[in-house]
Amino acid sequence: MTALLDVEDLRVAYGKIEAVKGISFSVQAGEIVTLIGTNGAGKTTTLRTLSGLIRPLGGQIKFNGKSLKKTQAHDIVALGLAHSPEGRHIFPRMTIEDNLLLGAFLRKDNDGIARDVQRAYDLFPILGERRKQAAGTLSGGEQQMLAMGRALMSQPKLLMLDEPSMGLSPIMMQKIMATISELKSQGTTILLVEQNAQAALSLADHGHVMEVGKIVLSGSGQNLLHDESVRKAYLGED
Ligand SMILES: Nc1ncnc2c1ncn2[C@@H]1O[C@H](COP(=O)(O)OP(=O)(O)OP(=O)(O)O)[C@@H](O)[C@H]1O
Ligand SMILES: [Mg+2]
Repeated sequence: MTALLDVEDLRVAYGKIEAVKGISFSVQAGEIVTLIGTNGAGKTTTLRTLSGLIRPLGGQIKFNGKSLKKTQAHDIVALGLAHSPEGRHIFPRMTIEDNLLLGAFLRKDNDGIARDVQRAYDLFPILGERRKQAAGTLSGGEQQMLAMGRALMSQPKLLMLDEPSMGLSPIMMQKIMATISELKSQGTTILLVEQNAQAALSLADHGHVMEVGKIVLSGSGQNLLHDESVRKAYLGED
């Protein structure tokens, strides 16, 4: 089976600083794959490159069989790759509903859009209750839900989530993780970047550990969760 996303020897630099130094991984349709690793490992840089926001120095990115190397960011969204960015980037003065609708900017099927807005409200009832409120009034966790809901509005084949649990209380975090599982069971493929290795590996079919621009360890979520070096470095055990 060919992978939905196939990344080969990807290299990305900011000026002279090489932030991603030749990483390879793939994501099969229906899977949750996670990239974990410490600050500055290159996780966000990888997602931004896959989204077409940064041009790679070298390597190959294939999505659904098509090379993305020269594809513009909005065309990448149209192909079915959506990105919920680190730090959320919602529009605080716009209403929650208008933030969601922004995620559908490439669609013209008004009935489908309305159905997907409702689906976001079903996933995250708080967003529905507050739909006419300015998004900036939401709590951090609620803004995270909005960012995920907005990314889903493009009907992605692959949803990339950059640190969805950042800054969330344990209960909010559990809720976000449960939603990620639910999205998978509804057929969405997910590439999840997380500092919370425990939570991410518990959900993931496959995981890759990144350190200073390289993948240093790969395995199934369960194997990595029980790997001694991962437990020491990322799960705070000695
Ligand atoms: N716009 C930029 N200009 C220059 N260097 C950058 C830029 N963005 C990131 N970097 C550097 O690239 C490296 C990788 O950063 P990146 O944001 O991809 O890491 P990360 O794994 O997402 O880290 P974190 O877990 O802290 O979010 C870091 O050394 C960072 O300082
Ligand atoms: Mg990051």
